[in-house]
Amino acid sequence: MKHLVAPSILSANFAYLADAVKMIDGSEADWIHVDVMDGRFVPNITIGPPVVASIRPFTKKVFDVHLMIVEPAQFIDEFQKAGADILSIHIEACAHLHRTVHAVKEAGMKAGVAINPHTNVNQLEDILPDIDVVCMMSVNPGWGGQKFIPNTLNRIRKLKALINAANSKTLIEVDGGVGTDNAHTILKAGADVLVAGNSVFKSTNPQQTIASLKHLDINTIYA
Ligand code: DX5
Ligand code: ZN
Repeated sequence: MKHLVAPSILSANFAYLADAVKMIDGSEADWIHVDVMDGRFVPNITIGPPVVASIRPFTKKVFDVHLMIVEPAQFIDEFQKAGADILSIHIEACAHLHRTVHAVKEAGMKAGVAINPHTNVNQLEDILPDIDVVCMMSVNPGWGGQKFIPNTLNRIRKLKALINAANSKTLIEVDGGVGTDNAHTILKAGADVLVAGNSVFKSTNPQQTIASLKHLDINTIYA
């Protein structure tokens, strides 16, 4: 499968969110990554269902909503109504992960589980058959524009081995510090989806940066 690109609107100018969504809509991006933070699970607050619902009409692309909130089970229906296609919840925020993952699917969305840099990827083994995506954090969640944590590459390889052993189709999405400088290495390690916030929105030509991320080929050797 050709890898997917999911620009994160966290790095957009929030006063012009609709323009950011339209820019992504006109690009080669596959998904739009939406970061929801509550000031409790992570030390920052971003947006919630009303904002997701407001920007939803500007594109038909997949809305990939990453919940960095406590008690995610309470908000499943609200995000479904707001237009989320994929809903990812943190393994660290959820005592009843299996139940919550199935509630996400019963609400008609694809289910993702996000995992922080300190959490052993083996903890995902028994939930893999139930989920569509693992959102592998390659920074500590809370802000855009942070530096990619190099050990993530080992974690991607470990997770890929678990997924292959389970004969599962779960996608590995890598989130944080991804750009044209390291994306090729990340893909080679086994990533299927690249989230990119700062590297897209702070570039001089965001659509061109998205295209560069999309056109990478793991079979090509780059100098
Ligand atoms: C971090 C968020 C990321 C963030 C990535 O807490 O989950 O999705 O937007 O941004 P960059 O690509 O700037 O690291
Ligand atoms: Zn994210």
